Order: sequence, then structure tokens, then C-alpha cells
Amino acid sequence: MSTTTTTRTVKPQAFTIEPTPVWTPLPLEGHIPSPYTTPSGLKVVSLHPSFGCELSGVDWAKPIPEALYRDIRDVVDKYGVVACRKTDLTDEAHIAFSSFFGDLDDVRPYIDAGRKHRLAYPELFDAGNIDPNTGDVAPLSAAQVVGNKANELFHVDSSFNARRAGHSMLLAHIIPPAGMGGATEFADSRTAYDDLSVEKKKQLEGLVANHSLFHSRKTAVPEYFKETDPMKLPLSKHKLVQKHEWSGRKNLYIASYVHHIEGMESSESTALVKELIAHVSNPKYRLTVPWVQNGDMIIWDNTAVLHRATGGSYEGRFKRDMRRTTVKDMSSSRFGLNGEGADWRVGLP
Ligand code: OGA
Ligand code: MN
Repeated sequence: MSTTTTTRTVKPQAFTIEPTPVWTPLPLEGHIPSPYTTPSGLKVVSLHPSFGCELSGVDWAKPIPEALYRDIRDVVDKYGVVACRKTDLTDEAHIAFSSFFGDLDDVRPYIDAGRKHRLAYPELFDAGNIDPNTGDVAPLSAAQVVGNKANELFHVDSSFNARRAGHSMLLAHIIPPAGMGGATEFADSRTAYDDLSVEKKKQLEGLVANHSLFHSRKTAVPEYFKETDPMKLPLSKHKLVQKHEWSGRKNLYIASYVHHIEGMESSESTALVKELIAHVSNPKYRLTVPWVQNGDMIIWDNTAVLHRATGGSYEGRFKRDMRRTTVKDMSSSRFGLNGEGADWRVGLP
């Protein structure tokens, strides 16, 4: 791969984003309708009582018109996680579709930190295990594999940047052999918030969490990052409880990136972070979505759900080529308490 390919960009499509109508609970069991047909005839089948669905009926081989995007977007706003099977989107079509959701993030901070980018576009985050130099499975000791190990902790993408991520679209180019793992798991942080006691909700209101990429890396692989002190590195501040504007529901914005809660005594803060992660990780809020075939894509909203990689026996042995576009949050909470317009970003080799 030549380095010149990393500078190519796909022109984002221009459009204005408006919140979709306020989400109204439906008089059905759980929080969501299923099966359900959207106005343009797409079929939605839920995967869990409160969130997550499989969406079918989109012809991914054709350019997606804006009206169809609106219909898909409405499903994403309600369900938080939307699995689209066998889209077979090319890198270009993946990027073009993602740009309907808003401003695309890119991997430049990782490249600047010394990482070699394997993929043709900086808008594609590499969540796979392929060595950019050999094109083969990267050794388990490679920095990229070590870094991706932290993806196995429940997180939201890029909460450690001044402007957090909104939506992510992860597309499978090569999945490992069946039965060897590699599924992606999600947690419903809107419903987890709803279920908190009145007292807990009162305690959390207004609290601010400090997010650090380095904190989660340290948690996942302490030995490797033992010299790293997150307190000496950038921390991104976001409220723990936020209104998810696209559905009107409240969301518990917690992640493995949360290093501490602002203004709280250290042991108290650590205990609260642990308690909230444990709460949202309760099996009743969790959904595992398997990758069935190459070309599958999962869309999720980082401001409504958490997610994690689940690993498996394929690791270090079989290729898993996963490419992710990441849309910068377009909601009014996008900068958290980092200052309007703040655009600093963090990366690792
Ligand atoms: C990601 C991520 C999980 C996975 O791409 O942001 O966390 O299963 N991926 O690869
Ligand atoms: Mn992720």
C-alpha cells in the first residue's frame, strides 16, 4: 500500500441535520415495535426487548437517496443498533452512506502518532487484526492488536476526543471462520438509565466524567501501558447523563474511557464508575450480534448504546478485516464541557 492512498478523501454530501421526531414508547412488550415495516417498506426485526434490530429491504448496490437515509436513520434513532446483512458496500459507498449522518472523523491522529494505516481512506478506522506491512494476521504483540484488545471493554467510540463520536458504521470485509468468535456485543444505556432509582438519577444529574483513551488501554493491558499516566494526557469532559436528542430519551454516557468523575474524591469516583459500568453491563441490557457473512454492516449510535469486541479463538490465527466509519456527534452535546468548537483529538500508534 502506498502512503499516497491515505490522503484521498471522499467528498461528504451536504445536508442539514434535524432531530427526528421524539421517540414515543409503543404499546408493545418491551420498548420497540417488531416486526415492523417502515414508511418506505423496510423490514425491521428486533433482536432484544429494548433495543437492537436487523434491517432488511435496502438495495445497498444502488446509491442511497436521502429519503431512504431518513427512513434508515429513524430506525437507528429508535433501536440504537441496526444490523444490515450482506450490504457488500465498497469503501467508497461505505463512506458516502456514512456522510449522510454528519461530519466524518478520520484516523489522522493515529497516523500522526506513528501508526501505519492499512486502508485506502483516512475515514476508515481499522478495527481488524491485519498487519499493514504483511497483509497477514498481525502478531498478538503488534501495537494495533494490543490497542484493539481494549475494544473488549464496554465503550463508546471516541468519547476521549474534544468532540465525541455520534454514529459508527462497522463493515465486515473478512470474518473469521464460523464458531471462532468475533461477534460484537452491545449494551442499552438508555434503558439502563431509565431503570436507575430516582435517588441515583438525582445523584448523577449534572455530574461530569473525564474520558481518556489511555485509561482504557491501561485497564485492558496494564503491563504494556504501565508508564502511561492518563492524568498527564488530554481528558475529555462529558456529562454522565445526557438527553439523546434524536429520540428524546435520556442516556447514561459511561464507558471504559471514564477515568474519573469531576470534583469527586478519588475512591468515591472509582466506586461510582465501577457501579455504573456494572449496571449497564447487566446481562438484561446486553445484546450480542454475530457477524454472519462478509459484507455485513452494523450501525450504532454511541450516544445511545455501548459496545465491545468479544474476541475469540480466531485471534492471532485468522483474519478479521473490519472497517469502521465514525461520524462526529452532531447533537448539541457534541463538545461536552470541552468548549464550543474544540477539535483536539487523541491517537496511539
Ligand atoms: C469498533 C469496535 C468492535 C469489534 O470498531 O469501534 O469497538 O467487534 N469494534 O470489532
Ligand atoms: Mn469501538
